[in-house]
Amino acid sequence: MGGFFVTGTDTEIGKTMITAVLTRHYLERGSDTFPYKPVQSGAEWEGEKLTAPDTVFYERFAGREFGPETNTYLLKIPSSPHLAAALEGVKIESQPIVDQTEKLLNSHELVFVEGAGGLIVPLNEEETMIDLIDRLSLPVILVARAGLGTINHTVLSVMALKQRNIKIAGIVLNRVTSDELTEIEEDNRRMLQKLSGVPIIGTFPYITGREIEKLDVGEILEHWNMNILEEAMQHESRKAY
Ligand SMILES: Nc1ncnc2c1ncn2[C@@H]1O[C@H](COP(=O)(O)OP(=O)(O)OP(=O)(O)O)[C@@H](O)[C@H]1O
Ligand SMILES: [Mg+2]
Repeated sequence: MGGFFVTGTDTEIGKTMITAVLTRHYLERGSDTFPYKPVQSGAEWEGEKLTAPDTVFYERFAGREFGPETNTYLLKIPSSPHLAAALEGVKIESQPIVDQTEKLLNSHELVFVEGAGGLIVPLNEEETMIDLIDRLSLPVILVARAGLGTINHTVLSVMALKQRNIKIAGIVLNRVTSDELTEIEEDNRRMLQKLSGVPIIGTFPYITGREIEKLDVGEILEHWNMNILEEAMQHESRKAY
């Protein structure tokens, strides 16, 4: 099988939510699936252990532990990774992330790598997230808001990826608010496909915290075009690192 890079149009847009949903879905279907969050800022101490909030979410959602291999850089300051790293006296480098991704791809059937923030988030003084994505050569899943304001951010993100010849598997639209947005959402889907030329994988509903563990992921994903992901897995031809 292979892997995907889950990026978003912004921070707090639902990358962790969608990574967790897809991880649980493929685990439930019997695929050895692993979520990887290479750079986590805003890591928190839990007793003696520094933990990544995104990994805690994956584990809660999937009902299993993934262990320390889910992170490479854990930074305490909740800021852009380059700033958190500089303030903590660390330099984020892409090579250890590339190596860890390769290791995970070789030891699991399917790997979802979650970015931090959007595409042009600095990792250090020289590289941003899109440089890392380019090096990893994984098809991208772009998470975007479902409602108002999505067209501009999503199309600009797609333009940036296309400019670098990075393969985009598709867009996931995430309902980040409880508003009823049917008319706007429907038009967003149409305009996004028209303006970006990228298929929409599906829309994820707004859910409340209490419902997370008992959420029927299969029922939601039944309405998604999951064949987009399956085809991307089959046609994946990654260049050597
Ligand atoms: N569909 C949804 N319904 C309800 N709440 C959601 C939904 N999607 C995301 N959220 C909530 O919004 C917040 C941000 O989501 P998430 O952590 O997935 O974003 P992110 O893009 O991974 O952010 P970061 O850039 O910090 O990694 C979280 O509190 C999450 O639980
Ligand atoms: Mg996240």
